[in-house]
Amino acid sequence: MNQRFVRLAETDRQTVHFSIDGQPATALQGDTLLVAMLGATRSLRSSEFGDGRRAGFCLMGACQDCWVWTAQGERLRACSSEVKEGMALVTRDTEAAWLNQA
Ligand code: FES
Repeated sequence: MNQRFVRLAETDRQTVHFSIDGQPATALQGDTLLVAMLGATRSLRSSEFGDGRRAGFCLMGACQDCWVWTAQGERLRACSSEVKEGMALVTRDTEAAWLNQA
């Protein structure tokens, strides 16, 4: 098992195709990015403070632990943004050069 979340209910919604760092993934219509990404992988992003991978914490838009980016550079809070067909998500802030040196 490579994902953190396992879906147990609501499996009859329409499939949505998206990507995480270029890797294809699927979710269900109406999923938040957090549910979609953790349904396919173990984490959401790298911490900008160097303390490893992050997977969100509060799940309600308060902790700031779930920021992810689109391939176009838009920053999204994964726990309060809905996955859309064709979304290309990245797990590192491409503009934070100091972060990408690690
Ligand atoms: S998980 Fe806390 S803001 Fe998204």
